[in-house]
Amino acid sequence: MAVARRPAGPWHYVRAYAKVNLGLEVLGTRADGYHELRTIFQTIDLHDNLRLRRVVSGDVRVSCEHPLVPTDATNLAHRAATELLRFAGSKEGIEIELTKRIPVGGGLGGGSADAAAVLVAVDRLLALGLGPAGLHPIARRIGADVPVFLVGGTTLGVGRGDEVYPLRRQLRLPVVVVDLERPVSTARVFARIDARLTPRENSHTIYRFVLRDLAGGRDPLTLLVNELEEAAIEEAPELSEPVRHVKTILGGCGASLAALSGSGASCFGVFRDSRGAKKASAALRAAGFRALQTRTLTLDEYRRSLSGLRGSKV
Ligand code: C5P
Repeated sequence: MAVARRPAGPWHYVRAYAKVNLGLEVLGTRADGYHELRTIFQTIDLHDNLRLRRVVSGDVRVSCEHPLVPTDATNLAHRAATELLRFAGSKEGIEIELTKRIPVGGGLGGGSADAAAVLVAVDRLLALGLGPAGLHPIARRIGADVPVFLVGGTTLGVGRGDEVYPLRRQLRLPVVVVDLERPVSTARVFARIDARLTPRENSHTIYRFVLRDLAGGRDPLTLLVNELEEAAIEEAPELSEPVRHVKTILGGCGASLAALSGSGASCFGVFRDSRGAKKASAALRAAGFRALQTRTLTLDEYRRSLSGLRGSKV
């Protein structure tokens, strides 16, 4: 008796974790039109859920219920699967179901995290054996923020932010994220930076952060700034008041660092202990903000999560 050809393989489940930029400096414009950055990325325990399976049809299909997330070829997860299948010369297709939990357009790298999770998962599903180093060139073609999600933890990002180096000291700290529910275009924020940019040779705060981090001593988080913040608020002036209000509450509850993440519009605070984080979450919610209490995810924790491509739901 002929056995019917299975149209699709089993589902596999993977998480795509968000990041915040603990600090971000813009050093100058580059010949490729991008900006030369120094940034400290930090993955956090807030994630999208993806499930993927191989399909014989040969095309990539993405589904997602979120109204702001496209499911066509402009979706970064779609691009990641398409580029990797092409790179591998595979005739197979991939079906991806995406459940968004990371705020969209919030400077938390959600779309880039999804893309990296797809790269890692498809590498595994098709037994390509590329690993993070082999996937890196594909990741950086998809977006400057994608490579960091092949590594995770507390990392230094240089170049376009796509050259990523894990720091020796991995932060294990409570974090409060505030979703201001106002998506901001990264490209438009960077375009505003050009007008005011004084190109400089090297970074100041990131350099001191890394040195202080190596040496120990006073809390190095207090050194960090986000140089995109002003431009982000110029791009979306209605954010000015909520950002100030959120930062005041975070600071008042003892945050070592309270800032906008990336090009916004999510804000976050990093705390020394969970008491302060709890207090801040409650105060922010009482003031009407959407606050999520979470924590940093270290390099090891992130690696463990990525290596566990699950055959069942997580
Ligand atoms: O690479 P990605 O598409 O994620 O970047 C979004 C936009 O942000 C780019 O089109 C570019 O305008 C801007 N960008 C930049 N310099 C960087 C990273 C991003 O100008 N280092």
